Amino acid sequence: MYHYNWTCSRCGEGYAPDVARYSCPSCGETACLDMRPDYERIAARWTKAELAADPRQSIWRYGPLLPLQPATCAPRSPLTSGQAALSAVGWTPLYDAGRLGRSLGLDQLLIKDDGRNPTGSFKDRASAVVLARALEMGESTVATASSGNAAAALAGLGAAVGLPCIIFVPQSAPEAKVAQLLIYGATVLLVEGSYDDAVDLCLAACDEWDWYNRSTGYNPHTAEGKKTCALEICEQLGWEAPDSVLVSVGDGNIITGLHRGFQDALALGWISHMPRLIGVQAAAAPALYNAWRDGADDVAPDRAETLADSINVGLPRDGFRALRALRETGGICLTVEDEAILHAMSRVARTSGLFTEPAGAATFAGLFALAESGIIGADERVVVVNTGNGLKDIRAAGRAVGAALSVAPTLDAVRIALELD
Ligand SMILES: Cc1ncc(COP(=O)(O)O)c(C=O)c1O
Ligand SMILES: [Zn+2]
Repeated sequence: MYHYNWTCSRCGEGYAPDVARYSCPSCGETACLDMRPDYERIAARWTKAELAADPRQSIWRYGPLLPLQPATCAPRSPLTSGQAALSAVGWTPLYDAGRLGRSLGLDQLLIKDDGRNPTGSFKDRASAVVLARALEMGESTVATASSGNAAAALAGLGAAVGLPCIIFVPQSAPEAKVAQLLIYGATVLLVEGSYDDAVDLCLAACDEWDWYNRSTGYNPHTAEGKKTCALEICEQLGWEAPDSVLVSVGDGNIITGLHRGFQDALALGWISHMPRLIGVQAAAAPALYNAWRDGADDVAPDRAETLADSINVGLPRDGFRALRALRETGGICLTVEDEAILHAMSRVARTSGLFTEPAGAATFAGLFALAESGIIGADERVVVVNTGNGLKDIRAAGRAVGAALSVAPTLDAVRIALELD
């Protein structure tokens, strides 16, 4: 017996978890499934006070809202407790970025720093829930396509629970992300092609060898894992939802996950309004933005040429639901140039101490544009989600700032280098 169902985001058909493994069996690959929790049953058995008393500072505190069997997320569950990095995913800090906020004329700017997850990105939330489901079902191998972070998350957390992982990443993935995959012991295939090619290849390989496919959007557990970020934001704010939440968009699965989390909190009556979701794309990879601007129902592929590798997506696999997240929340989609992303990376680091990878910096570049044009107001409570740690792509950081000064080990050399008397 399951305490939830899957519903097709396109045709609305419902499926029991053991019937639908990935996307909607009738609509096909791009019809992602939404979890439909039994809210009444959950509300009758689980209160905010009980949640507050749960000592687990991780995503597992939200077990009743996850598409997993109740025993999997119960305290001291053998699948999710005592499982090293897997047990430590989530509950990332939400902190005040006062200095940066003041420089933008914003009174309440908060950063949700998901670069602080065990493998350094937001993707740990998704991979953790997919792996817990894989363990429930007795899967023996999990595979994913990824631009790098989802793969690092699967590889690291898979290592924590001892599940073999097979990874398809584009050959151009940043060195640090590939190093993570190798050090965690995953089987790594560098695909001679784009991220979109890696997605198609992973799908075909999973069909051929019956590996469990974690790929973003296609596996419905990814967005449901990601929704924990929205639940944490609400809980960390004392169940007062923020006014606007900004995040960068590639496949559109993170923004969909945030929407799902706020929907759950609203359905349980734990928050009183839906925040406006703001999606930021790179101008050099604008597929979702195009569809949003044109009022289209669906997303058509476009070029993918941004330096922000994590959002360098030609065909967003969760585009349909991402559009829904934007439209149902009165949200906004905008694009930012690569130059603005590099500039934002150094500005954020220098005003808040946060080192973010280019996809995270893109979100801040969007914030700067919206604050400067007054679309985000001074008195709004704004949350920017930082999705990845800057150490994952130091080459991009090197492009954002100049090289360091070299000096001989003498005072004279320091005097000359710093132009001191
Ligand atoms: C750091 C980072 N930011 C943003 C994104 C975009 O998320 P999505 O592809 O779900 O839109 C990703 C996805 O890989 C990411 O790794
Ligand atoms: Zn369907």
